[in-house]
Amino acid sequence: MTTADLTLVTPRLDDGAAMWRIAVDVGLDRNSPYKYLLFCRDFAATSVVARVDGEPVGFVTGYRRPAEPDTLFVWQVGVLASQRGRGVAGAMLDHLRHTNRVAEAAAPPIGQLEASVTRGNTASMWLFTAFADRHGVPVTRTVLFGRRCSPRITTTRCCSASARCEATRSQVGRRRISPRSQ
Ligand SMILES: CC(C)(COP(=O)(O)OP(=O)(O)OC[C@H]1O[C@@H](n2cnc3c(N)ncnc32)[C@H](O)[C@@H]1OP(=O)(O)O)[C@@H](O)C(=O)NCCC(=O)NCCS
Repeated sequence: MTTADLTLVTPRLDDGAAMWRIAVDVGLDRNSPYKYLLFCRDFAATSVVARVDGEPVGFVTGYRRPAEPDTLFVWQVGVLASQRGRGVAGAMLDHLRHTNRVAEAAAPPIGQLEASVTRGNTASMWLFTAFADRHGVPVTRTVLFGRRCSPRITTTRCCSASARCEATRSQVGRRRISPRSQ
């Protein structure tokens, strides 16, 4: 595989089924296929699909928070196991940060990225921590919804006061591939 194999694209309606299949494959929360179609229709500008050799291998679904439109909430991010550790997920987050400035001219620039991270999901925690490192912004961890809301999850905000993640970083094979955006 060459560095030119990875492309990052704005999802279209016919990407919805593949996004759903990837979500199921990588063990993300099971939403109906309908959810992915809605994201492809209504939140395509804040979502992205990664393709290798033309085949979908990962995706991000996100949306701007209505109360804080400069905050991109990352709903789900998933990369097929065979493609992990090569920078695909990080490239998708960078892509969203960049393309939103271009694609949504009327909207404010994305100033903050927010994501809920299930306790113990080391890969996810490091993904967002690495994103913050790359862009020189701190990470803040707070409880997003408390026990009463159930389930209990924490949120990682790539902005404001910093708090370094306590997770122990495991070794992952690195062989970065550079994305092309379409
Ligand atoms: C989380 C996930 C999307 C990461 O995808 P990926 O393409 O392998 O991530 P990247 O290669 O872009 O890595 C991003 C950063 O996280 C780090 N990282 C990724 N996986 C890691 C792991 N298992 N342990 C430690 N660090 C890890 C990388 O080293 C990289 O940091 P660096 O740039 O400083 O080297 C992928 O593991 C996945 O799909 N997991 C299952 C679904 C999930 O849990 N999604 C998140 C919840 S919505």
